[in-house]
Amino acid sequence: MRLLTFLARRFIAGDTVENAISAVKNLNASGMTATLDILGENVKNQEQAIRTADSYISVLQTIADTGINSNISIKLTQMGLDISDQFCFDNVSRILDKAENLNIFVRIDMESSKYTERTLQLVYRWHEEYPNIGTVIQSYLYRSENDIKELNERQIRVRLCKGAYKEPKSAAFASKDDVNSNFIELTEMLIKDGNYPAIGSHDGAMVKAGMDLANKYSRSKDDFEFQMLYGVNRSAQRELVEHNYRMRIYTPFGTHWMPYYFRRLRERKENIIFIARHLFKD
Ligand code: FDA
Repeated sequence: MRLLTFLARRFIAGDTVENAISAVKNLNASGMTATLDILGENVKNQEQAIRTADSYISVLQTIADTGINSNISIKLTQMGLDISDQFCFDNVSRILDKAENLNIFVRIDMESSKYTERTLQLVYRWHEEYPNIGTVIQSYLYRSENDIKELNERQIRVRLCKGAYKEPKSAAFASKDDVNSNFIELTEMLIKDGNYPAIGSHDGAMVKAGMDLANKYSRSKDDFEFQMLYGVNRSAQRELVEHNYRMRIYTPFGTHWMPYYFRRLRERKENIIFIARHLFKD
């Protein structure tokens, strides 16, 4: 277990908010911004969901006090979506109030497809009161084209990513090629009509498509951003900054790192090999 914790450090900024702030300071010093995520999901009890929302409120204050360049990302199942939509709405509204007072952007992450519709309906409700909110769309879902149309119409900011959950064939493309070509089509919709889109991928082909489409539609480098995960493809992160693109790093911290960590491992066979090599070496 201690070894697993040690290995997870590659993708996680640490257990505490202090660890996370110091990681963000380093990112800022290298020309990157961040989005802070308190690890955790599928919380079933109200007290825990309320406590986590309180922790986010305190993170927002710390961002303001330290002057680091970061916003926050939130998972709704950590905020009580499995308890009820209204409970989750009220709990996250407290965070959004604080974020609005401090003028800090809040991103609602997207979880598995069984939550997509409810997540978007909540985002639409919040956005009427808090314009500083955005969400995430996954290119592996068939529904995403329609969702982006709606989000663009409402001018709600979108982070596009491929999608990290195990999905049924009834909801999501099974082949990588389909997920990738949909990613490029959705990027085009966002670059053309979206509000400050974020392209979240470590895939060189997706990054290149984003750059080409920004040129095609004359979207300036200051009017969209690339996003990558903490500890993933750091050379590409640096290279984008060197070419004056905006680069935001999704920076998770906290002790509930297992589900996040295993999603990262699944994404790349080299990650599994890296773990296996450490676990089985004597
Ligand atoms: P993919 O995993 O298909 O990799 C394609 C290529 O990228 C590789 O062949 C390689 O060339 C390159 N690459 C990937 N990893 C590399 C590495 N470690 N080193 C070097 N090259 C590497 N998902 C979700 O469902 N909901 C969400 O809210 C979010 N949020 C989110 C935020 C941000 C900022 C990012 C970047 C990603 C997410 N995700 C997510 C995760 C996302 O859906 C997806 O699972 C991962 O980003 C992996 O997909 P990629 O697009 O990186 O390409």
